[in-house]
Amino acid sequence: GSIGKDGYRHYMEKELHEHPLVIGQTLQRMIDPATRKVVLPDLPFDLATVPRAVITACGSAFYAGMVGRYWLEEIARLPVDIDVASEMRYRDPPLSAGSLGLLISQSGETADTLAALRSLREKAIHILSVLNVEHSTMARESDVMLGTVAGPEISVASTKAFTAQLTVLACLTIATARARGTLDPIGEEELVAALMDLPSRAAEVFNQGNAIRQMATIVAEARDVLYLGRGSMFPVAMEGALKLKEISYIHAEAYAAGEMKHGPISLIDRTVPIVASVPSTPLFDKTLSNLQEAKARGGRLLVFTDTQGADRVSAIAEQIVVLPRVHDFVAPILQTIPVQMLAYEVAVLKGTDVDQPRNLAKSVTVE
Ligand code: AGP
Repeated sequence: GSIGKDGYRHYMEKELHEHPLVIGQTLQRMIDPATRKVVLPDLPFDLATVPRAVITACGSAFYAGMVGRYWLEEIARLPVDIDVASEMRYRDPPLSAGSLGLLISQSGETADTLAALRSLREKAIHILSVLNVEHSTMARESDVMLGTVAGPEISVASTKAFTAQLTVLACLTIATARARGTLDPIGEEELVAALMDLPSRAAEVFNQGNAIRQMATIVAEARDVLYLGRGSMFPVAMEGALKLKEISYIHAEAYAAGEMKHGPISLIDRTVPIVASVPSTPLFDKTLSNLQEAKARGGRLLVFTDTQGADRVSAIAEQIVVLPRVHDFVAPILQTIPVQMLAYEVAVLKGTDVDQPRNLAKSVTVE
């Protein structure tokens, strides 16, 4: 049957509010409630011995893959290569037999991702896909599929499918790390607890609606916006910038905060707001000093942080949004929600066609 907006102004707003539910449903699919262990379907290959993972996807799904790379490298000690599918399909990377191709897609029909899947397949590597549409072409052509339990996503701008992808990749990381002996049972327990805590912490993000709307009034006036983050917050910045471009038509660019001094810092003045994602992870101090450099050049700082970082951030920022403090591992999942909400509120202020932005299709089935 048809799906309504349930009193929300747009599908995007409704789908943003489904983040807590969708993260919870996806975890239910991946974690055994009795043992609190991640359980994967039977794999036709052994995670302990795959020499390398090659991650490929488009758009937001690609940014989910970037977070996955940080996790798989750091926690599972698995070498990872990653590229957008439109490049990967023509790249012909040398790969040892038995490598793992990791494809990520909401629709399972994106032409570039499907072509990349087929070109990886020709190299006789295993194909694992993270998909929201479980009866899609990519599902049929993969060795194994991990489903994101996000339900139908109507808004062209992806929201809940993205956090569901991150949730699956987090669980895959835990299983891979266990298989490779880089995570002991106590470590697994800690990471699973952090994931199980997420749905309620995600629900608390919506208490920050007023602060996010206030931030949106500044962003809506800008012609260009710079998004900054480091480590796993860098892909979150990229997701925030893409979402803003997509639905508000404001130009935005995401940079790894430490790279700003190599160029984009020359852009900074009062007319280019800086949106930064800076929870209190081990890169907090480093990111804060990058923000200080931007502020010294007249930059207006709009910062997403958490309860533990709030005091130090508010000392330098013009506007802050304070999120619950969560485990470092899951911080990119939680921090995604407010950057997507910000883009939504800016688009509403701009009066754009939020659910159907110009020139865009929900699923890009042509090259
Ligand atoms: C996200 O907001 C975009 N609409 C877009 O980047 C999307 O994520 C990309 O086209 C990939 O689509 P897929 O997940 O269906 O493969």
